[in-house]
Amino acid sequence: MKLSDLLLSWYDRNARELPWRGTRDPYRIWLSEIMLQQTRTEAVRRYYARFLDRFPDVFALAAAEQDEVLKLWEGLGYYSRARNLHAAAKAVAASGGCFPDSVEGLQDLPGIGPYAARAISSIAFGICAPALDGNQMRVLSRCFAVERTLKTPFDLEAEATACISRERPGDYNQALMDLGASICTPKHPRCDACPLSPICRAFAEDEPERYPLRPAPVPKREEARTVLLAFTPRGVCIRRRNERGLLGGLYEFPSAEGHLNAGEAAQHLTELGFTNPTEAQILPPAKHVFTHLIWRMQGFAFRCDAAPEGFVEVDADGLRAHALPSALRKYREIALDALEKMG
Ligand code: ADE
Repeated sequence: MKLSDLLLSWYDRNARELPWRGTRDPYRIWLSEIMLQQTRTEAVRRYYARFLDRFPDVFALAAAEQDEVLKLWEGLGYYSRARNLHAAAKAVAASGGCFPDSVEGLQDLPGIGPYAARAISSIAFGICAPALDGNQMRVLSRCFAVERTLKTPFDLEAEATACISRERPGDYNQALMDLGASICTPKHPRCDACPLSPICRAFAEDEPERYPLRPAPVPKREEARTVLLAFTPRGVCIRRRNERGLLGGLYEFPSAEGHLNAGEAAQHLTELGFTNPTEAQILPPAKHVFTHLIWRMQGFAFRCDAAPEGFVEVDADGLRAHALPSALRKYREIALDALEKMG
């Protein structure tokens, strides 16, 4: 029996009920695929519903202010996705509201890479394009016991193209996502419950976890940072990060590279234009792991007279209303606590 037949008959009985299934509206499918990149399905559910409530179609999203889009994205991480989503919505709205109905056309939009373009085009338009991701790579490399070292899922292009269902490419892609999430998992796959075990070579060899063969991982770079909470009589000071680069467009507390002592931290604030930083208080350390980078943070709180140009002073409600990265969650909580006490 063919892999796609086994898979689809399993999917027809076991497909997960997810809010973005059962529609062929490219706007909704596009939104779900962007939100699902690097993010767990369960986390996406809530954001997806809230987002659609506020932006029911591509025109509503295109007309929004970027700050509002980022605020609705707050906590999902990888914020370039939100900025690209907004830019893509503007491009689609400007050309009449129709999404391109080809892999290449979709890939011309900001934030849509080869994986998303294939997922969206197969689900929304029935285009026969395998959405190669970690799940497909795991399942297919096990089924075929692929002995090549696979740098990216696209190294399995030939196998993936040979296997995809011509009749139901969107369901096929999503079936592999579900199988990879629930049964053909990286560790302890449940081969006894797998519809593909009759044709799986790794199962036959009793070595499913050996696949896929991956190159040794590149270690993440570590960066020491010092986060500074500068309290003025009106609140705490934040500023908008540069549009480009890591966490672009989000708000942040002043901070410096390296682990500074209290004197150096006060000096840094002075260099940024803060007047009279006093009463240094040591804050607990925090760590945040990004894809290629780890921030090891320590922090200080200071009292200052006023915020210099480029910073805004916000009270607790003001701080809650601005989008801050999850990396700064701990310091945001500390700032909120202090602001509530200041009244
Ligand atoms: N991950 C990425 N796209 C998905 C989808 N359409 N369904 C479930 N998980 C996914």
